[in-house]
Amino acid sequence: MDFLRHHSLRPYNTFGMEAQAEWFTAVSNIADLQEALHWAKTRQLPVHIIGGGSNILLTQHLQGLVILNAIKGLELLETESNNDSAVIAAGSGEIWHDLVCWCLERNLGGIENLSLIPGTVGAAPIQNIGAYGVEIKDVFEKLEAVSLVDGSLHSFEKESCHFAYRDSVFKQHLKGQFFITKVYLRLSKCPHQLHTSYGALEETLEAMSIRQATIQDVSRAVIGIRSSKLPKPQEIGNAGSFFKNPEIEPAQFEQLKNQYPHLISFPGAKGRIKIPAGWLIDQCGWRGYRQGDAGCYDKQALVLVNYGQASGTDVWTLAQQIVASVKERFGIELSPEVNIW
Ligand code: EPU
Repeated sequence: MDFLRHHSLRPYNTFGMEAQAEWFTAVSNIADLQEALHWAKTRQLPVHIIGGGSNILLTQHLQGLVILNAIKGLELLETESNNDSAVIAAGSGEIWHDLVCWCLERNLGGIENLSLIPGTVGAAPIQNIGAYGVEIKDVFEKLEAVSLVDGSLHSFEKESCHFAYRDSVFKQHLKGQFFITKVYLRLSKCPHQLHTSYGALEETLEAMSIRQATIQDVSRAVIGIRSSKLPKPQEIGNAGSFFKNPEIEPAQFEQLKNQYPHLISFPGAKGRIKIPAGWLIDQCGWRGYRQGDAGCYDKQALVLVNYGQASGTDVWTLAQQIVASVKERFGIELSPEVNIW
């Protein structure tokens, strides 16, 4: 295995930030991963894992060993004809959207709404990726992961992952403790139950004059919406939604709704009300704002962008200004969805 010294991470983060890894290696199987972990342990180096680099903001050089996940493989496991569903297993280093396309080609339904989400398969359950009314938890079966502490292999069933909105056990008390190696999803073999009620998706399907939508149509519609609103990382550095949509208590919601009758809201968890962070940021006048090469995207205020030469600190400074102004105007504290490194 190669361990590279002072390696640039620019190609490995979709914000396109320049930062160096003290040490860097790529792993394509569990044995390589265990060797890399052992290598770091004997040198007492901290370990950082990078997948698609689409949910991180690098604000400094990384000390220790950065391991790039290159574990591939897509398999269809269960195909009994009397069963409506099939289980697929995906190597965690696969690109999430490649998995979606692979499933669409086989007419396996359940993740078509999650088309074009950037990142790898392994990162998907960590933050329970979601879009247009579907989350990975809806089709999740189990995952396998290697302990970063001792290299042992573990299996996590759905219940033990504690999925919630953009959250899982791997962002909470097991944070930084496991390297996910394989993800198992249970998908529908005769997909007729589509999730098309999310406003923008319904409108797009209508505009496409589709009466009986297929999973392929849903995917095309989602790709159309995402491409029109979200910047392509190859063109403008970004990590998708920068903040989570905050959830507030009903009492605070009532108060705000009186003040701002146009306030948009969705039902949240445990009786709380979810407010789109993009709307709050937009109302504070940040949409389209640019400070040097760091900016707030003009078609979707929830996305912060690097127009070229911004540093991680530049984007983080802008993010903090946004948080402060939303707090001052609405009394709501935004928290990042992106991991700040
Ligand atoms: N809005 C504005 N101004 C803006 C942005 C949004 O007024 O600048 C309003 C929209 O008009 C809409 C509402 O806010 O009424 C919600 O906007 P949108 O439908 O674009 O969704 P979102 O809440 O901003 C979430 C996810 C996205 C996901 C979409 C679609 C989070 C943090 N973000 O965004 O996920 O694609 O819903 O389901 O939950 C991601 O996680 O990286 C991501 C892109």
